[in-house]
Amino acid sequence: MFVRNAWYVAAWDHEIGREMRRRIILNEPVLLYRKGDGTAVALEDRCCHRQAPLSMGKLVGDDVVCPYHGLQYAANGQCVKVPSQDRVPPGARVCAYPVVERNHWIWIWLGDPAKADPALIEDFHWMDDPHWGFGGSYLHVEANYQLLVENLLDTTHLPFLHPTTLGTDAFARSEFEVTINSDRIEVARWLMDKPPAPFHQQMGGFPDGMNVDRWQIAHFGAPSFVKLDVGSAPAGSGAREGDRSKGVNMWNLNAITPETEKTAHYFYAQAYNFKLDQKWISDLVRAQVTKAFLEDMGMIKEQQINMDLGPSPVVALGQDKAWMQMRQIVDRRLAAEAKAD
Ligand code: FES
Ligand SMILES: [Fe+2]
Repeated sequence: MFVRNAWYVAAWDHEIGREMRRRIILNEPVLLYRKGDGTAVALEDRCCHRQAPLSMGKLVGDDVVCPYHGLQYAANGQCVKVPSQDRVPPGARVCAYPVVERNHWIWIWLGDPAKADPALIEDFHWMDDPHWGFGGSYLHVEANYQLLVENLLDTTHLPFLHPTTLGTDAFARSEFEVTINSDRIEVARWLMDKPPAPFHQQMGGFPDGMNVDRWQIAHFGAPSFVKLDVGSAPAGSGAREGDRSKGVNMWNLNAITPETEKTAHYFYAQAYNFKLDQKWISDLVRAQVTKAFLEDMGMIKEQQINMDLGPSPVVALGQDKAWMQMRQIVDRRLAAEAKAD
C-alpha cells in the first residue's frame, strides 16, 4: 500500500534523454523519456494490447512504438496507429502521468491527476542554489521504503554502521528533540564539545585534537522525504546560538520512491556551501555519503529478509519516537486516500 496522491522522484534529470528508461514506481511500470523539445514524459510501460513493455520498443519522433505488434502511442498516452488495421479502437491508450522537472529531479504523480499540484513538490532548492554545491547519486534499495526512512530518522546507528565516516561514540547517547507539525517531523540533535566525525573532520579541516559542536536536524516530509541539516563548528564558537559561520554546513537530501512492497529507489545528494569552485569536494561528498549509504543498504536488506520470515516480537526504544510518528502520518494519508476512493 502506497500513498498515491503525492509527488515522488522518478529519476535524476541526467538519467532521462532520448533513450527510453523503464522504472517500476509504486508497483506501476513507468516509461520515461524526453520529447524532441526536451520535455520529460512518463507513460505507463505496458502496452494496452498484450502488456508488452513499451520501453523495449522505439521512439518515432515523440511517439512510442510497441516492440511486439507495433501499436504507436503519442506522448499523451493515446494510441494513434494500429499497423494491422485502419481503425484505432476506442480506449486504446496507456496512462500518461503528470511530470515536473525541478531541482535536478524528474518528479512524477501516480495518483488522481486532478490533484497533481506542483506546489506540493518537496523543497530541494539547495541543488539549484548558486550558494550551494552538491554531489548526488542513486541506489537501488532491496527493502520496503519505510525501513530506509526509519534509518534516516534514527541516526543512533551512526557509530555502529558508519564508524569510518559519520559516527562518533558520542552519537548513540546524544539527546534529541522531536517536534511534530501536521505531516512534518523535526528531530534535532546537538553534540556539544566532542571529537568530530571523520567526514566532518575531512570537510571542515579542524586542527587535530580540536573538539566540535555538531548538529544534525532531520526534517521529514510525507510520504518519504528526509532532509538533514548537518554540520560541525569549533566547540564554543556559537553554532548552537545561531552563528555557524566558523563551521562546515551541509544538507543531506533524501528522496525515497517505493518501487514494490519490498524494493525502492533511493535518490540522494549532499549539498555544501564551502569551496564551491573545487570540483573534488562534490566528488568527495558523493563518495563519502555513498559509502555510508551502502552500509545502510546492506543492513535494511537483511532486516527485510528477517521480516519476511514471519512476525516476531519487537521491543520499542526511546530513539524510535520519530519514525513511529512517521508511520502514523503515512498511515493517516493511506486511510484518507482509501476513504476518498
Ligand atoms: S503488445 Fe503491444 S502491440 Fe501487441
Ligand atoms: Fe545510515
